[in-house]
Amino acid sequence: MHWDVEALQADVDAQVDENRLYIVFFDRYGTSLVASRDVAADRALAQTSQLQGAAGASGPYAQAKDVYIAKRIRRVLEVEVPIFISDSDQTWGSVKLGLSLEPLDRQVERTRLVLILIGLGGLLLGTLGASVLARRITRPIKDLAEGTVRIARGEFSHRITIDSRDEIGGLARDFNDMSDKLRQTLEAIEEANRRLVQSEKLAQIGRMAATIAHEIRNPLTSVKLNIQKVRSSLHLDEIEQEHMTLSEEGIAQIERFIKELLNFTRVSDLQKARFGIDQILDESLKLLRDVLAAKSVAVERRYARGLPEIFVDGDRLRQVFANILRNALEALGDGGRIVITTGLAETEAGRRLRIRISDNGPGIPEKDRDNIFEPFFTTKPQGFGLGLANARKIVEQHRGTIQAALPGGRGAAFEIDLPCEGEP
Ligand SMILES: Nc1ncnc2c1ncn2[C@@H]1O[C@H](COP(=O)(O)OP(=O)(O)OP(=O)(O)O)[C@@H](O)[C@H]1O
Ligand SMILES: [Mg+2]
Repeated sequence: MHWDVEALQADVDAQVDENRLYIVFFDRYGTSLVASRDVAADRALAQTSQLQGAAGASGPYAQAKDVYIAKRIRRVLEVEVPIFISDSDQTWGSVKLGLSLEPLDRQVERTRLVLILIGLGGLLLGTLGASVLARRITRPIKDLAEGTVRIARGEFSHRITIDSRDEIGGLARDFNDMSDKLRQTLEAIEEANRRLVQSEKLAQIGRMAATIAHEIRNPLTSVKLNIQKVRSSLHLDEIEQEHMTLSEEGIAQIERFIKELLNFTRVSDLQKARFGIDQILDESLKLLRDVLAAKSVAVERRYARGLPEIFVDGDRLRQVFANILRNALEALGDGGRIVITTGLAETEAGRRLRIRISDNGPGIPEKDRDNIFEPFFTTKPQGFGLGLANARKIVEQHRGTIQAALPGGRGAAFEIDLPCEGEP
């Protein structure tokens, strides 16, 4: 190298790497031999060896510092290392290298930016995740709280819809079960109340009926007998005969009313026996033979085969079906049609014998549907409004149910369910 300082200078000046800002060679006494062009004039950089060449120096030197170079201040990592003569541990001198730290700083800056972005993203994701999680936890609790308030307000049909499998879901299910039970209990209480009011009403009507029957029956009988006497002893002309007939019909109607009223209010035990439902239905139709003959109404009997026998009061049940059939006949004009269907039905209360009687008459208006079973509710000028009330009383005495069903097409339909068990 001593021989060829020129070549070394050329090498040093050749810009190999833009990050290598300067390079200086010192001899073993720390005297600067060759320095790159930009720093040649700079004493601190080009003429000071940190290792004093390499004489007595122990190891390499490195330091980061700010350096004024090429007309600006730059961050530099200055490194100086000793140079050994090949195959000997004798030092020849040292070389000092100034490396720009700017790319590194830029890299650090970039990395910092990326880290900040990652941090921010993480924070955002974390916040989002936390709020979603919080919603998942708080939402069901809120629903539960709202549900309990609504149920407490008496909205027992309200359902809390939480289908999670955790404790909250379990609580919601328990709550729904509880409100179901509450609703059922409430319905049972209302039903019991209705029956109580009904039986109270019945008791009142019963007392009244007994009085009426007592007060009216005797004078009515004597009026009837007198009319018959007048009819047979006097020679009446046609118009007078007609008046007598009208009077007799009026009396018959009063008698029927008293009979129905007593029937309705009488509380007596059922005389139960085994019957086939077909038999009872046919006998009910027989009771209406005259009315059926007077009107051309078709009766279709769709009896199911092999139904179990029932243990019932035959007389009373015949009355039930006769009342329903009479209503149908009264609603129908000529050419009407009645369909009687029997079968088995599985209900919540168990297996039931179901009898359905439908007609194709005008049907029952929506507004009347709730009232038709009430005593004295009638829409007929000659009606007493006791037919269906009586029917319901008897059916319920048999632990059955009766209701106005929705007919398939036009007309009215009644459905009677009776318990199937053969013996009480
Ligand atoms: N098949 C039917 N079609 C249309 N309306 C009906 C039918 N059955 C019952 N109704 C209505 O229900 C009301 C009550 O019937 P219910 O048998 O209790 O009394 P009623 O027939 O009016 O009088 P009663 O039977 O005491 O002579 C009737 O007045 C009628 O308006
Ligand atoms: Mg009737």
